[in-house]
Amino acid sequence: MNLKGRSFLTLKDYSKEEIEYLLDLAKNLKEKKKKGILGNSLRGKNIALIFEKPSTRTRCSFTIGCIDEGGHPEYLSRDDIQLGHKESIEDTARVLGRMFDGIQYRGYAHENVEKLAKYSNVPVWNGLTDSYHPTQILADFLTMKEQFGKLEGLKLVYVGDGRNNVANSLLIGSSKMGINITMLSPKSLWPSEELVETCRGYARDSGSEIIITDDIEAVKGADVIYTDVWCSMGEEALAADRIKILKPYQVNDELMAKTGKAHTIVLHCLPAVKGNEITYEVFERFSNVIFDQAENRIHTIKAVMVATLGNTENSQS
Ligand code: CP
Ligand code: NVA
Repeated sequence: MNLKGRSFLTLKDYSKEEIEYLLDLAKNLKEKKKKGILGNSLRGKNIALIFEKPSTRTRCSFTIGCIDEGGHPEYLSRDDIQLGHKESIEDTARVLGRMFDGIQYRGYAHENVEKLAKYSNVPVWNGLTDSYHPTQILADFLTMKEQFGKLEGLKLVYVGDGRNNVANSLLIGSSKMGINITMLSPKSLWPSEELVETCRGYARDSGSEIIITDDIEAVKGADVIYTDVWCSMGEEALAADRIKILKPYQVNDELMAKTGKAHTIVLHCLPAVKGNEITYEVFERFSNVIFDQAENRIHTIKAVMVATLGNTENSQS
């Protein structure tokens, strides 16, 4: 599989086989790191990490993943560069593309990351926009594979804000990989019709089932319950309204009992607001798998960089 030179903006751009390849590479890189074996496939490569929003997991994963493979990461916050303020995104992209070998972008409008990819001429990786969070979903799927040994045929129920970046990317990824996905949200927070239609197309190919519902009973039979914050970064002003409409969708003991399954796991992309989207008790009960999921960000993000930018002959994988 050759993904060299490709950007990673949304999972829409990647086939089921390419996603499987990235997950296998991540598993391999994880096993190597656990044995203390690091690679050098990014030796001589400089990587720009643009963060217009804060980050713990994504920033650290790109930084450590890059250094583990012999590359040099450079963190650029919104206070450090002119991106979109004093200098257009197109010009910043052309400058950074001359200096760096790859660019990670976390920010607001998805079109910003598209412009960076279009004008920089180097691979651009989406570390979260208002619309999508594709690297997160690779870590989620690696964790599910570790837990269940497969993805196809699992039932994943996403509970909460069904139209945020994580929800959108989970819907895309699940429908591509043959995971049966239920989006459980109040109607006002359902994913867009356009995205659902696109994903129904992927689901026809993969055999996945997509259900969009506001009925809590839909958690029945879930292998995975997944939730995320009720207010994403940039939406803080909406908190009061969100808490009101999402309260019935909290992941708590009562909701977990409705799955009717003993082996259901809970995933959360983190950071979590305990007491809102998930109770303290449920979070702690599933904290091992949730922190596996957080750790898996590094292995999957490393896989994306190695696959799209790495020198295969230098790679340990
Ligand atoms: N899940 C995730 O992207 O975490 P950070 O915001 O800390 O990067
Ligand atoms: N939906 C959340 C995800 C954080 C990783 C946000 O955008 O803030």
